[in-house]
This record gives sequence, structure tokens and C-alpha cells, in this order.
Amino acid sequence: MKALTWQGVNKLQVEKVPDPRIINTRDIIVKVTKTVTCGSDLHLVGGYIPFMKAGDVLGHEFVGEVVEVGPNVTNHRVGDRVVVSSFISCGKCWYCAQELYSLCDNGNQNPAITEELWGFAPGGCFGYSHAMGGNAGSHAEYIRVPFADVGAFPIPDGVSDLRALFASDSASTGWMGADLGNVRPGDVVAVWGAGAVGQMAARAAILLGAERVIVIDRYEYRLEQVRRYIGAETLNYEQTDVGGELRERSGGRGPDVCIEAVGMEAHSPGPEFLYDQAKHQLRLQTDRPTAVREAIYNCRKGGSVFVLGVYAGVVDKFPLGAMMNKGLTVRSAQMHGQRYIPMLLERMEKGELLTEHLATHIMPLKQGPKGYELFKEKKDNCVRAVFEPSA
Ligand SMILES: NC(=O)c1ccc[n+]([C@@H]2O[C@H](COP(=O)([O-])OP(=O)(O)OC[C@H]3O[C@@H](n4cnc5c(N)ncnc54)[C@H](O)[C@@H]3O)[C@@H](O)[C@H]2O)c1
Ligand SMILES: [Zn+2]
Ligand SMILES: [Zn+2]
Repeated sequence: MKALTWQGVNKLQVEKVPDPRIINTRDIIVKVTKTVTCGSDLHLVGGYIPFMKAGDVLGHEFVGEVVEVGPNVTNHRVGDRVVVSSFISCGKCWYCAQELYSLCDNGNQNPAITEELWGFAPGGCFGYSHAMGGNAGSHAEYIRVPFADVGAFPIPDGVSDLRALFASDSASTGWMGADLGNVRPGDVVAVWGAGAVGQMAARAAILLGAERVIVIDRYEYRLEQVRRYIGAETLNYEQTDVGGELRERSGGRGPDVCIEAVGMEAHSPGPEFLYDQAKHQLRLQTDRPTAVREAIYNCRKGGSVFVLGVYAGVVDKFPLGAMMNKGLTVRSAQMHGQRYIPMLLERMEKGELLTEHLATHIMPLKQGPKGYELFKEKKDNCVRAVFEPSA
């Protein structure tokens, strides 16, 4: 079958790879109808997560049609339309029982790397390097979905593939940021990053009753989407003093909840950026925590910061003093999709959660390298590139 593979830093290629097959009794095979790029993939493409091998198939957000079902699968039939959580979880271990699905003890078949790096191994993810299980990704004609009764969900008739596609990851991730970031009715919430993840976090905060939600970025076309489709306020950090403006919009107190949806390749206008970028590129730090720092400094005392952006290792100049003395709660996680996808699909069906605008570029999978270039360089007002393997 055809698949989009990683060949080296910033080198992608569509090539023939073996078809997946059922390996375990709880697997299904899905014919991918739509699969989408994610900010997380950029960290792999750019070589910031150094556990890829040439030929690995990328992609972890997708919808498709079930074409084969393992003998112990009960929820799915051949022909079903499904959306699949990007993290792979068994549904039976202690972590799954706590609904901390991305921490599943059985989702990652290659735990040695992350055990060494982080003390314990989190779960596995599709198409997300050998550190996250070495699973083949979804930028392909077909994909094997392990533990399918836990991670794949039927798409209601009233929800299109394109809308459901974003339940796979960015909408679940955003919802998790607002939910576990403890957004309460009446709160002021600030979100760093107006990509799909930041937009979905902002929408979740609104649906959870936040009074004001403010999204921060520098790309006007993304901020325009936030105002138009998400219904949140915006701040362009290249044109405004973010800290001053956030205070102004929160009665002088600062936002109650700050959600960071930027990640390790953050940009910032000042000299700090050059410092962080130089250290990042020399591998003296593994991540650029610009937006995390800002979230911590600007959050109100006793408030909550949720880090949705992906980080891999150690960072420099982490404002531990501000976090400690201001009494902040700082949390983070890879997405627990299985916990949110059914509810998100219901909200999508009711029209409360719209996602189609995020798919700014829809193209055949064979144009995958071009799609990644548009997405990575934020060219042509790209928010996300969606690939259709059968087109
Ligand atoms: N926790 C999870 O499970 C999970 C799931 C999906 C994605 N992610 C991560 O979320 C992050 C965002 O993903 P995305 O797909 O929206 O990516 P994206 O690249 O489309 O968007 C990131 C946005 O952040 C903006 N940005 C950069 N520096 C900034 C700064 N200092 N202040 C404010 N905005 C800034 C960029 O301009 C861009 O619009 C990535 O790190 C990704 O890896 C995490
Ligand atoms: Zn993703
Ligand atoms: Zn589990």
C-alpha cells in the first residue's frame, strides 16, 4: 500500500510499504479515508524527537472504514465508519481504569526508551516514533488499530468524516486542557497558540462556561478563525503586551486558567528566542519553553496552568519560583482521547463543536510532502493539511 514515510530530518516521501494485518485478537484494520497533520508531527519531521527510523509511517489522527475485525472485537463490524484515538490504550490496566488512557501500561510495546528517559513509560501512539511504540501511522491507505473496542468509535450518521476527524486528537486534546486545567463557569482563560489544539482548547473552555477566553498567537489568519469559528477573543503577541493586556481583560487579577498549546518549537519576538533557539539547535536543551514560561508568569495567583504542547526532555529557565510562590497548579498530559471522544462526537452532532475550518488544505496522500511543507512553514494560511489516501 501507499504511505507517507519519514526518511530523515525534513525529508518525507510517499512510498510502498507492506499492508497491515491483524496481529492480535483485539485488532481491527481500518481503511483510512482522511488523516491530518498535527503540530506533534512537526517535532518528528524537524528531528526534535530523535527516535524515528527511515521508512517509518507518520500520522496519528484519522478516520476510516473498518475492513477487517479480529476475533475478540465486539464493538465493530466491517463497513463501520470510525474515528480512532491517537493514543493506544488497553482499557484494562490500572491507568486505563483511572481514565488516564495515554498513560496505559500496555499501549507501548517498546517501553525501554521512555523508561530510561522519564522513569516510567507512557502509552503508545500511532506514527509517533519508536519511543512511543514504533506503531505504523495513519498517513497510509490502511492501518492496524490495536485494542479497537477501546480506541475506535463509530461516527454518528449526523457527523461528517471531516468534522469527526478532529475528535481523533486535537479536539480531545483541547478538551482535556480545559477539563483537567480545571476551567470553571465564570473563569477567564488564556490559551497560547491558535493552531487546531489551541482553538479546540478555547472552544472547550467556552462550552465549560468560561466567561472570557483569550487566544494568543502572531498569525492573523489563525486569530481570525478563532474570532469567527471559536467565538473567543484574540491577542497578537507581536502587536500587544500580552501580560498587560491579560491583566486588563481579567480585572487586574490575571487569567484563572492558562492553557499552553504551542510546544517545544515555540517562537517569541525578543532576544530570549535567539537564546532558546541556539540552545535548542545545539542540543543544550531539548525544548523551547517560551509559552510555558509566559503562562506561568501571567497566570493569576493560585491559578492553574495546563501544558498541552509536546515537550521531550529538559528545559532551561523554568520559572519554578513563580510557580511555587504564586501557588500555581501545573498539569500536563498527552491526550486521553478515549475519555472524551464519545462526548465530543455528540457535541459535533449537535453543532456545538465545529472543526471543518481547521482543514484549510485537503489533498491526496501523494501530495503529503507538500502538505507538510505548507503546514510547517504556515504558508498559504495553512492551519492543517488533510490527506485522502484513496484520492
Ligand atoms: N498533549 C497532547 O496530547 C497533544 C496532542 C496534539 C498536539 N499537541 C501539541 O500541541 C502543540 C500545538 O499543536 P498544533 O497542531 O495546534 O500546532 P500548530 O503548529 O498548528 O500551532 C502552534 C501555534 O503556536 C503558535 N505559537 C508559537 N509560539 C508562540 C508563542 N510564544 N505564543 C503564542 N503562540 C505561539 C504558532 O504561531 C502556531 O500558530 C504542539 O506542540 C503539539 O505537539 C499535544
Ligand atoms: Zn496530534
Ligand atoms: Zn491500559
